Amino acid sequence: MQKLREEMETFFGALYEDDKKVLVHGEGFLHARAALVGEAPGEQETLQRKPFVGKAGKNLDAFLAASGLRREDLYITNTVKFRPTRLSAAGRIVNRPPTQEEIRLFLPWLRRELHLVNPTCVVTLGNVPLNALADQKTTIGEVHGSFLHTGDGLLLYPMYHPASLIYNPSLREVYAEDINHLSKWLAGNN
Ligand code: URA
Repeated sequence: MQKLREEMETFFGALYEDDKKVLVHGEGFLHARAALVGEAPGEQETLQRKPFVGKAGKNLDAFLAASGLRREDLYITNTVKFRPTRLSAAGRIVNRPPTQEEIRLFLPWLRRELHLVNPTCVVTLGNVPLNALADQKTTIGEVHGSFLHTGDGLLLYPMYHPASLIYNPSLREVYAEDINHLSKWLAGNN
């Protein structure tokens, strides 16, 4: 994994030579049975160089704890490893969704990362990792809480993105159900 991260630093360092990016690598148990994949780091993640440590991460931690899953038993990473930003109308640096090009550039690296961890299932958080990894175009609303096999041997378990709970509190119940289902499934598959 260390070698992979060093290769990524070299590749993206050269690619974004004039606009240096801070890469936030995955973290957690390298032999985890579940790997969680988010969209891209935000401000806090970039400052601390750890995935899911900001507001969305706090949401995620609360639901993990409630379902009996421990963060240290999981591997957590992102599809795109740097914070995609834009300038707001007020002149502030704010997050933006990653572009298709950024996702495409990071995908082979994400696949290598996931094959190194080799988890029983890959929990995609939101539409970005779902559409990056699934064989067919689908949406989170259709497939959350169910298992999807991919042609390259991954078993995906799509869930809503924890940040969506901030904007849409009515998803909290569904989110809790999906994570409890995952926790029970993992307990029965060891
Ligand atoms: N949102 C993500 O998708 N990833 C993070 O690491 C933080 C917020």
